[in-house]
Amino acid sequence: MSRRPVNPGRRFADGGSIPFVGSVQSKTRSSPLLSIGLLVVGAILLICYMYSGSGTSINTKEAFSKVEGGSSCTLEVQRALPILKKAYGDSMNKVLHVGPDSCSVVSKLLKEDDSQAWGVEPYDLDDADASCKSLVRKGIVRVADIKFPLPYRAKSFSLVIVSDALDYLSPRYLNKTLPELARVSADGVIIFSGYPGQQKAKVAELSKFGHPAKLRSSSWWIKYFVQTKLEENETATKKFEQASTKRKASISSSPTHPQFLRFKPITAVNVTTGSDTDASEESPCDYSDGSWIYDPDFRFDRYDSSCKEIFKGWNCILNNKSNARDIVKWRWKPRNCNLPPFDPLKFLQTYKDTNIGFVGDSLNRNMFVSLFCTLKRVSSEVKKWRPAGADRGFTFLQYNLTIAYHRTNLLARYGRWSANGNGGKLEALGYREGYRVDIDIPDGTWEKATSFHDILIFNTGHWWWAPSKFDPVNSPMLFFEKGQPVLPPIPPDVGLDKVLKHMIQFVEKTTKSGAIKLFRTQSPRHFEGGDWDQGGSCQRSQPLLPEQVEDLFSVKNNGTNVEARLVNQHLYKALKGSNFHLLDITHMSEFRADAHPSSAGGKKHDDCMHWCLPGITDTWNDLLVTHLNSLKIRN
Ligand SMILES: *[C@@H]1O[C@H](CO)[C@@H](O)[C@H](O)[C@H]1NC(C)=O
Ligand SMILES: *[C@@H]1O[C@H](CO)[C@@H](O)[C@H](O)[C@H]1NC(C)=O
Ligand SMILES: *[C@@H]1O[C@H](CO)[C@@H](O)[C@H](O)[C@H]1NC(C)=O
Ligand SMILES: *[C@@H]1O[C@H](CO)[C@@H](O)[C@H](O)[C@H]1NC(C)=O
Ligand SMILES: *[C@@H]1O[C@H](CO)[C@@H](O)[C@H](O)[C@H]1NC(C)=O
Ligand SMILES: *[C@@H]1O[C@H](CO)[C@@H](O)[C@H](O)[C@H]1NC(C)=O
Repeated sequence: MSRRPVNPGRRFADGGSIPFVGSVQSKTRSSPLLSIGLLVVGAILLICYMYSGSGTSINTKEAFSKVEGGSSCTLEVQRALPILKKAYGDSMNKVLHVGPDSCSVVSKLLKEDDSQAWGVEPYDLDDADASCKSLVRKGIVRVADIKFPLPYRAKSFSLVIVSDALDYLSPRYLNKTLPELARVSADGVIIFSGYPGQQKAKVAELSKFGHPAKLRSSSWWIKYFVQTKLEENETATKKFEQASTKRKASISSSPTHPQFLRFKPITAVNVTTGSDTDASEESPCDYSDGSWIYDPDFRFDRYDSSCKEIFKGWNCILNNKSNARDIVKWRWKPRNCNLPPFDPLKFLQTYKDTNIGFVGDSLNRNMFVSLFCTLKRVSSEVKKWRPAGADRGFTFLQYNLTIAYHRTNLLARYGRWSANGNGGKLEALGYREGYRVDIDIPDGTWEKATSFHDILIFNTGHWWWAPSKFDPVNSPMLFFEKGQPVLPPIPPDVGLDKVLKHMIQFVEKTTKSGAIKLFRTQSPRHFEGGDWDQGGSCQRSQPLLPEQVEDLFSVKNNGTNVEARLVNQHLYKALKGSNFHLLDITHMSEFRADAHPSSAGGKKHDDCMHWCLPGITDTWNDLLVTHLNSLKIRN
């Protein structure tokens, strides 16, 4: 199956800049090899790297002119098969390959004992050999234009491997084809892309694909995957990483430089709406998935730094934080819809004669303050009081709307514990000092809140990962149930599960009928260069990029701020099956390393945990309102 090469120079010009190739060139000694593997959740993107430079410092143009011979990504696919087999195991038993020379890939897969394989050849097969023709006759390999729906039912294959085919698609078609590939695969899509080397398509065929091959940088793909909602699959990442490390030596004598980035399952893409960016407000939308958009002309007039309720350390404007006024110029844009702006008057009217309670740590107070300042601006007649044992609260008298903040660190009641001179079970185990946490008793600060409020917003998280207070050795958390110590003692993360379980039960039992219960997901911290007490700081003036977010928060990296996603895992588990609604603010907030008080927080250390006000807890409240409105139990 020889194919006439397309003049690389021509494509080079069409493809514009080639930042990706340029950026890894110096790392690559010879070719072809798997220079970069972008391992996605079910999906992997392997940038295959075709030039055969043997030196280390050839310039890019020279490198391209050296492309010759019959190699293509197809060869890379064949080389990668053993790695993929190791990584994916059983999933590799039912594979669809999409791309040129599909016959050869399918043949190779079929040689494996237990493998079933099919192929889609997106190009003409005029010059196919006899065995390929036979595969086509049997319907195992089909010739099909991948710009159109694939002739297979959903989840027909465990894995779909696509090589050298997506490079020809403009974003418009990519938006259709990638979801199609995801649709027919049960476990994931593996993409081989990058500089396609020896081209498959004849010049005459290019028009069929509408586009010459386009070189796309790895960062382009990363961004694309993030936009199209690809999700992390750490299991797959780990497996692939292990498999490729073991195989490294045998794959090529030269060093490979796999780089792993992890995203969300491609299966989240809705095939019918995947390319629809203007979904109507009626259709369900994932408000937590989107990006921050900068609008330098945006005038924020929701409230200002004169709102008295803003805690001193969070008032970044008064504290002269350099980017304090820029923080609110970033607007959250969910991917498939818009987050409606907060209309305070409408809110007051809609929720008149209503009590709203925030129950949780200082991050919930931060959100409470944002709501207060927003409403106060349009309705200044307030009564300040402490409803139902709250730390603070206000009634907007004109509307009889009460909002309150109930301070609780762990949700459960806790207090200092010291060994009893007469001995006891914990004393017998050597415990002298610590904190007693009653997993089945709500903190007194909010035990009356559930029967008072009509809408409750809970959170807990930071205090469970606070070794400076709950030092595992000197002052550990000691969990009690029904007044007795839990034995053997359990670690905090197990305690958190138990507390959540009991507190959720308590809330469900004691709230008024019709009350709305929300649990807010974990607010991320952004300490870099150490934790809060190790000189860590957050000196950024702009939101993070998606790949920086992954770096900082991926559970796998176990970085300083890893608790953000860990806490959520506990929350998701505990809330499953409950009638709580989830207010998912974690991911949108992960980007906002620029929005903490930082060194303007007035503490000895940087505050990279709380948020400047005005700031992103305003967006959390936008989300809260949108969520409440979507429940449609009012109006
Ligand atoms: C393709 O999808 C991406 C991500 O959803 C979007 O940003 C882009 O505008 C879409 N392109 C076209 C041409 O539809
Ligand atoms: C993640 O990958 C593993 C291993 O390939 C697979 O078994 C699992 O189903 C995947 N999980 C998701 C959510 O895709
Ligand atoms: C995709 O979106 C359409 C239109 O909103 C909807 O009817 C369909 O159920 C969705 N499919 C999936 C799998 O979510
Ligand atoms: C902020 O700057 C103003 C004007 O320069 C100054 O008066 C004020 O003291 C500063 N505030 C803080 C907390 O540094
Ligand atoms: C104010 O709202 C509360 C709680 O919804 C209700 O019990 C009370 O009767 C209302 N007061 C007035 C004066 O309407
Ligand atoms: C994560 O890092 C911390 C120290 O920063 C360490 O104590 C802990 O064991 C690590 N956890 C895992 C799962 O590697």
